[in-house]
Amino acid sequence: MLRVGVCVSGGGTNLQAIIDKVESGAITGAELSVVVSNNAGAYALTRAKNHGIPAVCISPKDYETRELFHKALIEALDTFRPDLIVLAGFLVVIPEELVKKYKNRIINIHPSLIPSFCGTGNYGLKVHEHALWRGVKVTGATVHFVDEGTDTGPIILQKAVEVRDDDTPESLQLRVMEEAEWEILPAAINLIANKKIQVEDGRVLRTK
Ligand code: GAR
Repeated sequence: MLRVGVCVSGGGTNLQAIIDKVESGAITGAELSVVVSNNAGAYALTRAKNHGIPAVCISPKDYETRELFHKALIEALDTFRPDLIVLAGFLVVIPEELVKKYKNRIINIHPSLIPSFCGTGNYGLKVHEHALWRGVKVTGATVHFVDEGTDTGPIILQKAVEVRDDDTPESLQLRVMEEAEWEILPAAINLIANKKIQVEDGRVLRTK
C-alpha cells in the first residue's frame, strides 16, 4: 500500500475527489495516512475527520520563524511515513529540505496548463483571472512532480478545458475543477501507486 499524505489550505474539494476514489476503488494500492493543513479553519480538515483520516494543523502563526514552521511541517509529515505527498491546494511554498527529502515523491495540482499561468503569484482564483485577462480559449489543469522551482517539476498529467465568452474567474475555476482537477489528481495517484510511471531526464514516462 502506498501511504499518501495530503497537504491542503482550504476547501479541500481535490482532497474529497481523492477520498471518494480511494473509497470507490477507482484508486488502488493507496491509502490516505494523514491530511496536513497550514490553516486551522480549512474545511479540508473536517473532510479528513469525516472519513477517519488523521488531520493535523501546522500553522505558521504558531511558530516564531519560518524555519521553525518548516521544521514542524516536515516533522508532522515524517511522523506518518508517507511514500507520496500530494499538494492539493496547499498554498505554502514548500521548504527545499522537504523537496530534497521526498525527491520525486511530492506531486502538486495546478489549475492551468503549465507552462501557462504558473509560477509565483499564480494560485487559486488568480490563475483564472489571468487566463481570462489574456483571452485564452483553452485552459485546464496539470499534475506535476514538485522540484525546487515553482510549478517547474516534471509533468505527469494535463487536461484541457474550454473557456467560454461569458466565463467569470469563479465559473472557470469551478469548470476546471469539475472537468480536469478532480479527474487527473486521483488518476496521477493511481498511476504512482501502481508503479506505471517513472521520471527520466526531467520527463515523466510510462514504465516499460
Ligand atoms: C485548486 O484549484 C488547486 O488547483 C489550486 O487551489 C485550489 C484548491 O481547491 N492550487 C493552486 O493554485 C496551487 N498553485 P480545493 O481546496 O477545493 O482542492
